[in-house]
Amino acid sequence: MTASTNYTPISYTANDYSSLRGLKGITDEQIEIHLKLYNGYVSRTNALFAKVAAMANAGQTGDSSYQELKRRAGWEWNGMRLHEYYFDNLTPGGTAMNDAFAKAVSERFGSVEAWKDDLLGVAKSPGIGWAITYLDRKSGQIWNHWVTEHECGHPAGAEPLLVLDVFEHAFSVYRKPTDRGPYLGDFFDNVNWDVVAGRL
Ligand SMILES: [Fe+2]
Repeated sequence: MTASTNYTPISYTANDYSSLRGLKGITDEQIEIHLKLYNGYVSRTNALFAKVAAMANAGQTGDSSYQELKRRAGWEWNGMRLHEYYFDNLTPGGTAMNDAFAKAVSERFGSVEAWKDDLLGVAKSPGIGWAITYLDRKSGQIWNHWVTEHECGHPAGAEPLLVLDVFEHAFSVYRKPTDRGPYLGDFFDNVNWDVVAGRL
């Protein structure tokens, strides 16, 4: 006999990122369209969690469609959360580099410039995904990491410090899809280093 399930999922609310108008380089239209995409991830995450809960509560966890929804949850949920990290670590014109963050990355890489060069190398990797500076709190290790799409290759338990969206949709409204390099420059012109340091 299987135990009955009475699972109630959390419903997420999309964050308000209206403060991101007026970024340096990255146009308001670009942000507008990117936010629309983010909102889609939030609503699909909610719909998916509601659907799998209903199926689980109806005893359908052995169903192949339930299993496929579970597989898709990694795409939708990470698509939502990674965009929140990304938008949260932006502010129009950026802030001054935070001393605590500069010290933390300099201890690992030798200098802020060396850390940034390393991250830019990761961010220019062919493919769609994310370039992320991670902190492994267990060891104190900080490194730059590539995540394919939204869900493939997350280092288990490590915490994102700086999150950089390198999908073409992050810049193709105001730049050519081949202009990832110049977009990376625009990104760094708008980083909120205090938010990044707050994740240490
Ligand atoms: Fe994105």
